[in-house]
Amino acid sequence: MAIILGIESSCDETSIAIIKDGELLSNVVATQIEMHQKYGGVFPELASRLHCENAIFVLNEALEKANITLDQVDAFAFTRGPGLIGALHIGMQVAKTLAILYNKPLIPVHHLAAHIYANEFVKPLIFPALSIVVSGGNTEFVYMKEDMDFEIIGETKDDAIGECFDKVARTLGLPYPGGIPIDKLSKEGQHTYKLPVPLHDDSLNFSYSGLKTAVLNLVNNETAKGNEIRVADLCKSFQDVAIGMIMDRLERALKRYEIKQVVLAGGVSANSYLREQMHKRLDGTDIDLIVPPIWCTTDNAAMIVRLAEHLWKMGITCDMSVSSDPNWRIDKYKTF
Ligand code: KG4
Repeated sequence: MAIILGIESSCDETSIAIIKDGELLSNVVATQIEMHQKYGGVFPELASRLHCENAIFVLNEALEKANITLDQVDAFAFTRGPGLIGALHIGMQVAKTLAILYNKPLIPVHHLAAHIYANEFVKPLIFPALSIVVSGGNTEFVYMKEDMDFEIIGETKDDAIGECFDKVARTLGLPYPGGIPIDKLSKEGQHTYKLPVPLHDDSLNFSYSGLKTAVLNLVNNETAKGNEIRVADLCKSFQDVAIGMIMDRLERALKRYEIKQVVLAGGVSANSYLREQMHKRLDGTDIDLIVPPIWCTTDNAAMIVRLAEHLWKMGITCDMSVSSDPNWRIDKYKTF
């Protein structure tokens, strides 16, 4: 029997959740999206400041909803990384303060591993699994031979896919976070613009910065010629190439690795075309697919406490000297 309180603050969501033996008692999320929209992306300093302002309200609401008092909590978990350094520090300091005050252990949680394990809210993970982690800050293929075992078999060489969606959206004058309007507009568009497919090798790696620049150049050239940009068509053309790269690497991974389940994780896993393509490829095969519910694709502390339960059972806790790591690798989740 353990009650774990977890804090997520890696980017622009302040979230606190409480779990008791697998049962999620509360999950409160304060999103900062509106405050960052005028900057066309997350403004890190503002994110840190808003985490400071929001933490206490989110904490009180999470406790109230769970009908739990702080002295009942057995351990305090927090996102140690990856993420924005200032934002991570705030969540960690809140967790440390509570752990000192109540003399309870601290559990450092890897944000991307948590995105993967959030899928356990849907159904159990089956191993060996391939986790496709696609978010605003990361693009990784993570092979999991067994439970809590992570091997990065492919990763982006430059920008993350979500970052690319956001920057392309900004170029097209669409609001942040850009993945949402691009996904929506793509449904009304045709793939009529020719864009380059980056990284011509046979690895499982990704590259998105060239694609982002290609869209920017295309928009500048067409505008200079006085041609109007067909925004929906450009969204569809871009999205096909961006998601196509994932599907292409999936095909390679399926040939090279034993895979019983494919797991989608991270903000970009909300993309309807990616979901459609995954179902098209894997439904009816002997490979299981988990597509997370939309609430699980955005940052939240439910996923932090879910993974924290695994870490707790494995005896993984840290002392007060721990620091955040904005570049923490998933295969180093036991090292801090
Ligand atoms: O996982 P997340 O909250 O960010 C990190 O923790 O890094 O994901 C946010 C990213 C943003 O880049 C956003 O544009 C993208 O997920 N996103 C989408 C969609 N919804 C959100 N990208 C493509 N299609 C969507 N429907």
